[in-house]
Amino acid sequence: MRQYELEIHVENDVYLALHYARLLMNELGFSEMEKQKVLVAVSELTRNVLDHADGRGSFLCEIIGGHGLRLVVRDWGTGIERLPEILHGEPSHNRRGLGLGLAGAKRMMDEFHISTSKEGTEIVGIIWKGKAPQSRRG
Ligand SMILES: Nc1ncnc2c1ncn2[C@@H]1O[C@H](COP(=O)(O)OP(=O)(O)OP(=O)(O)O)[C@@H](O)[C@H]1O
Ligand SMILES: [Mg+2]
Repeated sequence: MRQYELEIHVENDVYLALHYARLLMNELGFSEMEKQKVLVAVSELTRNVLDHADGRGSFLCEIIGGHGLRLVVRDWGTGIERLPEILHGEPSHNRRGLGLGLAGAKRMMDEFHISTSKEGTEIVGIIWKGKAPQSRRG
């Protein structure tokens, strides 16, 4: 199977999402470092659905182009306020942890797109197998 999708409602769904991402990364032959990066991103993004969107969301992971892993995390919360500041690492008022989850997840991925509004949020992240680590900085 090249694609997995599940709803994110409770803590255990985070672990299921991590498990599915791992299955596809094993299929793709990702390096240990690539796997760790993706697992951090999956964990931070799915946890945000529980922490900030009332546990009303979904997770999808799929293999694309034969050597990429695409993640889509959607929710039906009230959207991310002050997104530019958050991505610059400024702490937000209603943070749960260090408040670097989203900025960290972005750094882990080769491509990262956020669409957010008062109706909810969709985050798409892609990591390509074998892409040089230097080109992921920034
Ligand atoms: N899916 C989301 N829906 C609504 N707001 C969100 C969502 N994800 C993040 N946010 C907002 O962005 C802020 C920053 O998120 P981020 O994951 O970086 O930090 P955090 O969740 O507060 O703390 P940490 O991830 O370190 O536990 C959150 O405090 C929250 O205000
Ligand atoms: Mg977070």
